[in-house]
Amino acid sequence: MTDKFNELAQKLEEAQLGGGEKRIEVQHKKGKLTARERIHFLLDEGSFEEIGALVTHRSTNFGLDKQKFYGDGVVTGYGTVNGRLVYVFSQDFTVLGGSLAEAHSEKICRVMDLAMKNGVPVIGLNDSGGARIQEGVVSLAAYADIFYRNTLASGVVPQISAVMGPCAGGAVYSPALTDFIFMVEGNSYMFVTGPNVVKTVTHEEVTSEELGGAMTHATKSGVTHFTAPNGVESINQIKKLLSYIPQNCEDDPPSLKYENLKSEIREELNEIIPENPNQPYDIKEVINGVIDSDSFFEVHKNYAENIVVGFARLAGKSIGIVANQPAVLAGVLDIHASQKAARFVRFCDCFNIPLLVFEDVPGFLPGTDQEWNAIITNGAKLLYAFCEATVPRITVITRKAYGGAYDVMNSKHIGADMNYAWPSSEIAVMGAKGAAEIIFKNEIKEAKDSEVKLKEKEKEYAEMFANPYRAAARGYVDEIIKPEQTREKLIRAYQMLENKVDKMPKKKHGNIPL
Ligand code: HXC
Repeated sequence: MTDKFNELAQKLEEAQLGGGEKRIEVQHKKGKLTARERIHFLLDEGSFEEIGALVTHRSTNFGLDKQKFYGDGVVTGYGTVNGRLVYVFSQDFTVLGGSLAEAHSEKICRVMDLAMKNGVPVIGLNDSGGARIQEGVVSLAAYADIFYRNTLASGVVPQISAVMGPCAGGAVYSPALTDFIFMVEGNSYMFVTGPNVVKTVTHEEVTSEELGGAMTHATKSGVTHFTAPNGVESINQIKKLLSYIPQNCEDDPPSLKYENLKSEIREELNEIIPENPNQPYDIKEVINGVIDSDSFFEVHKNYAENIVVGFARLAGKSIGIVANQPAVLAGVLDIHASQKAARFVRFCDCFNIPLLVFEDVPGFLPGTDQEWNAIITNGAKLLYAFCEATVPRITVITRKAYGGAYDVMNSKHIGADMNYAWPSSEIAVMGAKGAAEIIFKNEIKEAKDSEVKLKEKEKEYAEMFANPYRAAARGYVDEIIKPEQTREKLIRAYQMLENKVDKMPKKKHGNIPL
């Protein structure tokens, strides 16, 4: 029997080395971790159980029969992160460049199927030259098998992708179908066609980094939600994200034990809103002043910064925050901000994470650029996402709630459960000056001194609408509160909403304006 045991040990040892020590050295020289090292940093020590370590490809094309490696370029299995089960696949660039073909894809599909049946998140660590060229169309089919599963799993279990090396061609669509993408700065890129094809077709000269590096996707395209300076940091970000989200769509998000023996009143919140309503302030001061200390985990930090989204904890419970940012473009809603927020709202609603909205929005951004690029359709995404969300939803209006943006930003009319307004709120169709210019146009034109008349009419409009009391009188706002009370009110309101049950009408699925 010893011989057989030795044979097994020798094969498993070989599998551990992937494409061999030389290629591992090359991987390290590039500043990259190997597939197994990434799993080591991700999972609790000793928790990894590998599946399919001895799988090999079956191709004989172009000499592949002489290039067989145990595992076929991907390490798959399950383990725990802070005690909670996850499934993981980690592509091994040392084996045929981590390229994906039949057997490699079957291994990924296997963990995805298990994750679906068991209601557990899937984490994909991508580092691959894309479709294995030698296996031809089989590689394309193998990708499609994954895309199909990504789509079926969407909204059932959280799916997380880290891009830690190349990710090119159609291969980008698996991460794109998942809930969150993490990229490593300087060492990862994603694009549908690389710089050479770009040069041929559009004559643009661009590097891989400029075209599809981490910062490009974090700031310009919004494809990636998170970036980190290295692989270990990226993996730590994934672990942090997991701490806010449930295992599946029927599970509750994890909550931390919370016992506050001191007061929940936060006086410093009273000082944030400037006297001048046109002066910016940082909404993150409001967020951090309300939530449990140091609990804000921002998503899409560098993209569409005029809206802030992210996870936080309130009295130990996970919440998802969407907040207009008056410090950037006055917090206006534009195409990118609408898309960013809509996607986040959808995620939170899929996975039972209550939503909290801080609203200070002067409206939608005007202009041909916005109109021609479909602010109508894109703004409607956010509207649709809020309308359809059935999780507990609360809005706090800190200052401006103007125009269509008032409706869109989780107003009572589209299903918010509780709406609070600070005394500094202005809930109106538009700002007082713009409103006066339109409705008193003739009076202003005919006045002896148009400037003085405009000021007078502006004041008249402001007195009537630049406050929260009209909205409160109609019950559009449930309570006008001092900023210092916000945290206490929210803790109680979310407790009150803890067992909320709300259902959408029966349908196959809605038709979100894509
Ligand atoms: C087979 C591949 C491969 C691939 C890399 N390798 N990509 N083998 N199929 N797609 C192999 C290399 O031959 C090499 O083998 C090893 O991986 C490492 O590659 P290097 O080129 O030495 O590494 P590096 O210099 O770091 O360059 C990495 C790379 C480059 C930029 C990814 O390898 C590359 O451009 N590869 C081709 C990318 C590509 O065009 N893929 C298809 C995209 S289309 P040895 O034996 O020397 O170690 C696609 C369609 C998907 O993916 C469609 C889904 C619908």
